[in-house]
Amino acid sequence: MTDTATLQFSDGSPAVTFPILTGTMGPQVIDIRTLYAKTGKFTYDPGFLSTAACSSAITYIDGDKGELLYRGYPIEQLATRCDYLATCYLLLYGELPTRAEKDDFAGRVTHHTMVHEQMQFFLRGFRRDAHPMAVLTGLVGALSAFYPDSINLNDAHQRDISAIRLIAKMPTLVAMAYKYSMGQPYIYPRNDLSYAANFMRMMFATPCEDYQVNDVLVRALDRIFILHADHEQNASTSTVRMCASSGTNPFAAIAAGVACLWGPAHGGANEAALTMLYEIQAQGGVAKIGEFIAQVKDKSSSVRLMGFGHRVYKNYDPRAKLMRETCYEVLTALGLHDDPLFKLAMALEKIALEDEYFVQRKLYPNVDFYSGIVQKAIGIPVQLFTAVFALARTVGWIAQLNEMVSDPEYKIGRPRQLFTGAAPRNVRPISER
Ligand code: CMC
Repeated sequence: MTDTATLQFSDGSPAVTFPILTGTMGPQVIDIRTLYAKTGKFTYDPGFLSTAACSSAITYIDGDKGELLYRGYPIEQLATRCDYLATCYLLLYGELPTRAEKDDFAGRVTHHTMVHEQMQFFLRGFRRDAHPMAVLTGLVGALSAFYPDSINLNDAHQRDISAIRLIAKMPTLVAMAYKYSMGQPYIYPRNDLSYAANFMRMMFATPCEDYQVNDVLVRALDRIFILHADHEQNASTSTVRMCASSGTNPFAAIAAGVACLWGPAHGGANEAALTMLYEIQAQGGVAKIGEFIAQVKDKSSSVRLMGFGHRVYKNYDPRAKLMRETCYEVLTALGLHDDPLFKLAMALEKIALEDEYFVQRKLYPNVDFYSGIVQKAIGIPVQLFTAVFALARTVGWIAQLNEMVSDPEYKIGRPRQLFTGAAPRNVRPISER
């Protein structure tokens, strides 16, 4: 028998009963889709604190346990036994690839890494000092103008081509945005390199000097990509779903995701965390941590410890654990343990993990705290951090978009509201206002 929930009203209206849906794991869900039709009432849940906006079979998070699964596989296993392209395949198609499937997929991605030559003229319209996320939002949106043969959201084949194009071209676009900001020539992709190594080369090589690929750094970047590949219904993913629910094209929907990710409460946190470290450094470094923490605790200051806390994880973010490991590996490989900025980050981490304020509120370092440090060590400029996050998350956005479009229950997203504005009134002539 299906479980049900009955809603009683204190105003004498008749009680209504709703089915309760049970997923494979996680909280049960009260199916209130008929609430408005039955009662003329809406539910009120700004910030979606208690609302499941869709059903999904892609990513599962248990925030209390600190557990993250992609298609049932623990993130710890994926990060240590698979590479990013295998993870992309898993997210998109539901299963880990066989050797032949992996080779085929990697080949398809590799052969789509170049962007339309005209793209560089589009890029030229931007100021050189523009924020890379502003540029990337534009470039990704512009893909729909450059690849009109894969913009039909309702055509599964076109969606698949747009998926491959997006995954393949994001590293090229991010690297182009970086090169443009530096005034350096663009470096074309090279098909004999891995996904992460190719990105690093497009970032750091110049026509006068090739980039020497360092395996530790390539592995670190590949891990950053895996850990950021999907995270169920977060703000940017919900934005992509909402945007695509109108039937717009995949490139436009992913551009909306990029725009949402930019915010400091979401993907912008890695940049904000590094900016925070620089500020503390400028004020005196480790000696000033106490003062800074006092500011964070002061509710009137609005200062937050960036890179700490998470809406869902009320335990250590499992991605942060893996990223912390990578962070130490990279700092060791580059001999950066004594770098003042990294020392400061480690001191901040230690104090925050022991301080009653953070312990009580279950505010642990999140993945962005460490990924910012790793990216900085690799040589990626702080302003580009969120663009790297967007590159990695693109596959998750696409997988979620595909899932939504294939769901027979999907409808255009259209939340309702509790109206608190003026009741009907008449426009008076301007002389009487
Ligand atoms: N520093 C100081 N206090 C904090 C922080 C922080 N980073 N995060 C939460 N708190 C406090 C907050 O003031 C509140 O205290 P009180 O109960 O005394 O009023 C309590 O903890 C609960 O905070 P909240 O704002 O209700 O929590 P939330 O779930 O709405 O916010 C968050 C989650 C990620 C927006 C928030 O923790 C935050 O702003 N963190 C810093 C930004 C950051 O690192 N974001 C990256 C998230 S991970 C990447 C991703 O998945 O996008």
